[in-house]
Amino acid sequence: MNVLVTGGAGYIGSHMVKMLLAHGRNVTVLDDLSTGHRDAVAGARLVEGDIGDEALVAQLLAAEAIGALIHFAAFSLVAESVADPEKYRRNNVVKAEALLRAMRAAKVDRLVHSSTAAVYGEPQYQPIDEAHPAQPVNPYGATKLAVERMLEAAHADYGLHSVSLRYFNAAGADPEGRLGERHDPETHLIPLVLQAASGRRKSVQVFGGDFATRDGTCVRDYVHVNDLCEAHLRALDWLAGGGGREAINLGTEHGATVLEVIEAACRETGIDIPKVMAPRRPGDPAALVASTARAERILGWRPTRSDLPTIIRDAWRWERRSVAS
Ligand SMILES: NC(=O)c1ccc[n+]([C@@H]2O[C@H](COP(=O)([O-])OP(=O)(O)OC[C@H]3O[C@@H](n4cnc5c(N)ncnc54)[C@H](O)[C@@H]3O)[C@@H](O)[C@H]2O)c1
Repeated sequence: MNVLVTGGAGYIGSHMVKMLLAHGRNVTVLDDLSTGHRDAVAGARLVEGDIGDEALVAQLLAAEAIGALIHFAAFSLVAESVADPEKYRRNNVVKAEALLRAMRAAKVDRLVHSSTAAVYGEPQYQPIDEAHPAQPVNPYGATKLAVERMLEAAHADYGLHSVSLRYFNAAGADPEGRLGERHDPETHLIPLVLQAASGRRKSVQVFGGDFATRDGTCVRDYVHVNDLCEAHLRALDWLAGGGGREAINLGTEHGATVLEVIEAACRETGIDIPKVMAPRRPGDPAALVASTARAERILGWRPTRSDLPTIIRDAWRWERRSVAS
């Protein structure tokens, strides 16, 4: 089956393309390279274009005989979404709507969508399951929830089959060292810690030491990028088997504190990584940990490489390669 990967030149999308190719799928990537990298796409056709270009997408779906889409393309910086909500609404929601119209015109009816734990907002209990109220506290989370609602309506109205995968904290890198995280600005903890280890940054900031957690720092649920990608393969299979519409968490049920991540990184790198305590950031919940029962029940998915040592070793290989090149 031929698969179109939107955002396939980005962090998670590029790992997905590599895994799809390894599973013998034909892959086309649609990416406008707004935050992605041309050299992250190898072995698949890269079409440089916008998901909001309905004519281009409809033509591509037909010409490449696409059977399903994996839709990663979006903006995903929470702080930027607060500063410029319209930019996020336009790219993440309005253009996703155009993408769905193009799919409908081309009679492509299967989609796996990148959603996020940010749809839940301030957590009311842990671990967070899919029945938890979805009340996003920032425009980024609101755009992802809006697309989920659109997909529910498309399922009811004209039978679009889709899965929204709500990732908690994507982390780690390709174990072969070819791909990794390359965001600018980088806002994710593990690459920031490793940049402090490699000397690309003076230190890593720890935002808040007075949360009600085991060591006072925030707890997050880190899941290896290749575990995420495996869940997408399973979601494609679920859709091919007649699955209709689902929203499913992807995490590990085991959170790590910021200090635990830094300590694990010190152990794995053998470097005493400098850290600086800083005040809490507004809107940062104390803990975000996923319940993964639904992923296991529906997709038969369990993370197998999302322990901190593996995540950090793989991300460290990528960081050293980035420094050397
Ligand atoms: N990284 C995480 O921890 C995380 C967590 C939850 C959800 N997500 C979601 O997963 C997806 C991928 O995240 P990522 O970290 O790989 O981000 P990324 O920025 O590395 O990748 C996004 C890709 O989409 C492309 N893109 C953006 N707008 C586009 C458009 N209009 N047309 C075509 N291409 C466009 C970018 O050029 C980039 O290659 C995003 O939807 C993000 O919201 C990520």
